[in-house]
Amino acid sequence: VKGVVPGLLVAVALAVGLGSFHRVTAAAAQAADPATVAAGHALFVTGCSTCHGADGSGIAHRGPSLVNAGAAAADFYLRTGRMPLANPDQQPLRGPAAYDSHQIGQLVAFVASLGHGPPVPVVAPGDLQAGNSVFQLNCAACHSVVGAGGALSYGNVVPSLDRATRTDVAEAVRVGPGNMPKFSTQVLTDQQAADVATYVQYLHHPQDRGGFGLGHLGPIPEGFVGLVLGLGALLLCVRLIGTRA
Ligand code: HEC
Ligand code: HEC
Repeated sequence: VKGVVPGLLVAVALAVGLGSFHRVTAAAAQAADPATVAAGHALFVTGCSTCHGADGSGIAHRGPSLVNAGAAAADFYLRTGRMPLANPDQQPLRGPAAYDSHQIGQLVAFVASLGHGPPVPVVAPGDLQAGNSVFQLNCAACHSVVGAGGALSYGNVVPSLDRATRTDVAEAVRVGPGNMPKFSTQVLTDQQAADVATYVQYLHHPQDRGGFGLGHLGPIPEGFVGLVLGLGALLLCVRLIGTRA
């Protein structure tokens, strides 16, 4: 509960020290290769065209146009298992990917060939403390201060970030999946996206220096435990002192 600041400092040192580079799949590089695009198109016709149309231009009430969705969106939705969706009315949720990384590269190349969306980001090493402020300002309102997720209105869920990789974070920020806003490079620079990606990785293994993490559920359980244990101990002291006098 306490000792968050020293914990963060140690983690910054670790993050900088490890220089956690994340190499991105060959997906972006493959975009120009016609054979890869053609292989992607074949997979697309079988797995995606019932909702997005054979040319990716979308079908009303089934799936949006992917013309300017870009490599980042295709890579994000496919790697996190959100696509292919089973039912167009359901919220896409994270799950096991339906395709292997080679096939994902082909599908990404096809979707990228349709228009001019954001490319798969290359995530530079980030700064943990800068990422913490970016997160508290732009993400915590929906994902909670500890990235545990929550609920939006009309039954939509905000997912926990406990499985999000650095690339997932950088892509989500640019793509704005579902009800999440899209952050342009004017709002969050690529460096800030990398910083927040580093902070999200830190949230996976926060260092509970100086106490128990209490499930990282935030101030309410912390206050509750503080109240019960703290007040209990106080009452005990009062009692002991009282009996002696
Ligand atoms: C059952 C219908 C369905 C199928 C099948 C399906 N999709 Fe989708 N797709 C959707 C819907 C609906 C959305 C919008 C979801 C949302 O709210 O994020 C979507 C969104 C997307 C997006 C994000 C678009 C954007 O602008 O950000 C991508 C990329 C995508 N789909 C790719 C695919 C690919 C590739 C396949 C095949 C492997 C596929 N989808 C199969 C229904 C479908
Ligand atoms: C308005 C609420 C909202 C805000 C603000 C928001 N998100 Fe999201 N986020 C969502 C929702 C909703 C989803 C699930 C989208 C879907 O249906 O696929 C999501 C999904 C994600 C995912 C994918 C998680 C996974 O495991 O698949 C990541 C990563 C993410 N958000 C990171 C961020 C970061 C980083 C920020 C701040 C820069 C942020 N979000 C701001 C609502 C929000």
